[in-house]
Amino acid sequence: MAYDLDVIRPEMRAGQVRVRGGEFSPQRRASVKKGLHTLHTLEIMATNVYKCQITSKRSPLNTQLTAAMCNEMTHTQDFQTKLYEHGFKPSKLRWSYWMVGYVFGLGSRLLGPRRVLKTGIWVEEKAVHHYGQLLTTIEWDDETREYLEKDRADEVGHVERWRRLLEHPEEWR
Ligand SMILES: [Fe+2]
Ligand SMILES: [Fe+2]
Repeated sequence: MAYDLDVIRPEMRAGQVRVRGGEFSPQRRASVKKGLHTLHTLEIMATNVYKCQITSKRSPLNTQLTAAMCNEMTHTQDFQTKLYEHGFKPSKLRWSYWMVGYVFGLGSRLLGPRRVLKTGIWVEEKAVHHYGQLLTTIEWDDETREYLEKDRADEVGHVERWRRLLEHPEEWR
């Protein structure tokens, strides 16, 4: 399916929030819980990477990073909502992913814009890999699966955007 990657926060209506997974076997429920914890914590990390990469300069790069941060906040909301819909709570260890995002974001910012872009590519390629694994190994309900597919497409879009900017510094300097 082709997604419009310009939509960084798709519309969501109250009626779309539902109780999910009541009919799942305990095994399926456990795998969905583990998968949602992974996705939620990774998206917390991604949000913080971009948030901490943004400098106070008014630059096209900072605008692009802000759009990516907003998109990652949407992903975090997607999986936080899915956790509660399934009757789960966020991982107690999520603060450690917040810290990792902070360190990667701030560390790359101190090393300059090229390192910022390279870190973005590295983090997003890992995310695409994780999404691929979780899509094939877990039996999701159809609607949750659609979120994974759309959000993975966003991550592929992020990799492509940072690669393009790395090759064309005149677009953001
Ligand atoms: Fe994301
Ligand atoms: Fe991303």
